[in-house]
Amino acid sequence: MTALPTSPQMSVQDFLAIREFIYARTGIFFNESKQYFLENRLNRRIQELNMGSHRDYLGHLQGHAGKEELKQLFNEITTNETSFWRNPPQIEAFQKIVLPDAVALAKARGANRVRLWSAACSSGEEPYTLAMICAEARDGLLRGMQVEIIATDISEKVLAMAREGNYGSYTLRNLTPAQIKQHFNQQGPDSFLVKPELQQLISFRNFNLVDYANYKSLGSFDVIFCRNVLIYFDEAVKGKVIKGFHEVLQPKSFLLVGHSESIHSFNVGFELLHFSKAMGYRKR
Ligand SMILES: C[S@@+](CC[C@H](N)C(=O)[O-])C[C@H]1O[C@@H](n2cnc3c(N)ncnc32)[C@H](O)[C@@H]1O
Repeated sequence: MTALPTSPQMSVQDFLAIREFIYARTGIFFNESKQYFLENRLNRRIQELNMGSHRDYLGHLQGHAGKEELKQLFNEITTNETSFWRNPPQIEAFQKIVLPDAVALAKARGANRVRLWSAACSSGEEPYTLAMICAEARDGLLRGMQVEIIATDISEKVLAMAREGNYGSYTLRNLTPAQIKQHFNQQGPDSFLVKPELQQLISFRNFNLVDYANYKSLGSFDVIFCRNVLIYFDEAVKGKVIKGFHEVLQPKSFLLVGHSESIHSFNVGFELLHFSKAMGYRKR
């Protein structure tokens, strides 16, 4: 009988060394309570590579093949939960208050386009939600305006799903049947493909939020969505990410973070906005 491969146990020293490595490259900080989570996530990769320990895996990450392996590491350690129309009060505030205001600001400075950034977009549900709203406003609020949505993430696995744009019904649960009919082509009982007119509004890119020096390479934005990723960062990283957003936002433009994420300690450059059952920030 062939023995099943056993999963190596992660020692505390290996946990500390790997978490330091991950923190330096992603800003994601695993506290002690996350040791088993990290061990489980890494074991699959360690077994695929036929390695005996987490220490060996760290050596592999630091070696000549490390750059390529980083992509696998990012796929394994990130939490990618998302859905269409996530946090409806905030999405409705975007639709009814933020986007109209952003369009007015853009027109006032003589621009004929609005640029939105979905920073940490996961498998695409968030940027496609924004694209749906913009498509529906095409002949009204957005008449004569171009829309460009930049959607970025660190995980190639979810970016590939986002580019494909094929979703099951569970992630569409907050959408009305009319929205589903308008924006998707149904391919099968549980397969809905976003229509090309939404896809062409979005460009998906790999961008690491700790790549602080490169924020400006993405251009400037009228609205930034950065939801449900700041919770994985510590205060030092959060501060630098918020500073980066501040630098690429147009004057008086908007930053929307997740409902449990406060940028309270770093909001000197931002004014807090209260919407109905949701919050947001405006660059001062
Ligand atoms: C929970 S999802 C949030 C998705 C979406 N914004 C939402 O709120 O539904 C968090 C995403 O952040 C991404 N992420 C984590 N660290 C990142 C980093 N340093 N740079 C860019 N994306 C990162 C993960 O890959 C994951 O897809």
